[in-house]
Parts: sequence; C-alpha cells; structure tokens
Amino acid sequence: MAAGIPAFARVVAFSMMVSAPAQTQGNGKALFAKRCGGCHALDRDKEGPRLHGVYGRAAAAVDSFPYSTPLKNSRLIWTGENLDKWLAGPENLVRDNDMAFYVESADERREIIQFLKQNP
Ligand code: HEC
Repeated sequence: MAAGIPAFARVVAFSMMVSAPAQTQGNGKALFAKRCGGCHALDRDKEGPRLHGVYGRAAAAVDSFPYSTPLKNSRLIWTGENLDKWLAGPENLVRDNDMAFYVESADERREIIQFLKQNP
C-alpha cells in the first residue's frame, strides 16, 4: 500500500503518530488561541487587555485598557491560583467585571495558565 510513498514521508507520518499523545500536554498555546484569542492577544488590546506578562502581575495593570471598576479595585495578583479561579468563573472572583467568558475544563485551564506562566 505504501509502495508509492517515499520512505522519508512514511517516517514523518509515523513519528507524527507516535508523538500525538504527548501533545495533549503542553497544548496551552493552541488552547489560548482557540479559547482566548477572540478577545485577547499577547501584545495588543482587543475586546480584552493584552496578556503578555500577565502571570504574577497586578490585575488591571495595562494603562491603555479601559478595565471595569470592579477589576481595577480588586487588588488581585494574577497568581496561578487566582488565574484558575478567574478562568473558571470570573464573576465568582470579581463581581460585575467585564469578562463574559469562562473555561469549564480544569485541564484546559491548567494548560492555558501553564502557557501564560511561560511569559509568552
Ligand atoms: C468574550 C471576550 C473574552 C474572552 C473569550 C476572554 N476574555 Fe479575558 N477579558 C475580557 C475582558 C473584557 C477583560 C477585562 C475585564 C474587566 O475589565 O473587568 C478580560 C480580562 C482578562 C484578564 C485580566 C487581565 C488584567 O490585565 O488584569 C485575564 C488574566 C484574562 N482576561 C484572561 C483570559 C484568558 C486566559 C482567556 C481564555 C481562556 C480569556 N481571558 C478569554 C474578555 C475576554
């Protein structure tokens, strides 16, 4: 069956198959693009503020972004724990904030936070 396919192409196809399961780990970048990219970029404000360097930073620290008053007054630091709460249900962490979105899957939250922690 594979007779017409050059050997190197078969090797590539095979190595993609064996490495696929490992990619469910470290999937944060793709998940970030998919879940967050509609409202956030790393380096410019969109509907949400830019998120470059957000891990470990004070909430509402991007001067160019018009944050909600509740988030400005929250005095939160974006630790891993606070990010997890925020992504699980922003409203439960900061009432009346402007982010109308949450991530149901704890695994996805963990991977996205891991990505943000790398300070992309
Ligand atoms: C529907 C649009 C939307 C989506 C989708 C969204 N956000 Fe947001 N996000 C916002 C808005 C708007 C704010 C500003 C909230 C405020 O001012 O109260 C915000 C704020 C934030 C903040 C606080 C930033 C700061 O500077 O304090 C973080 C962190 C954040 N979002 C992370 C994420 C992540 C990670 C995702 C994807 C899992 C995501 N958001 C998806 C709209 C969105």
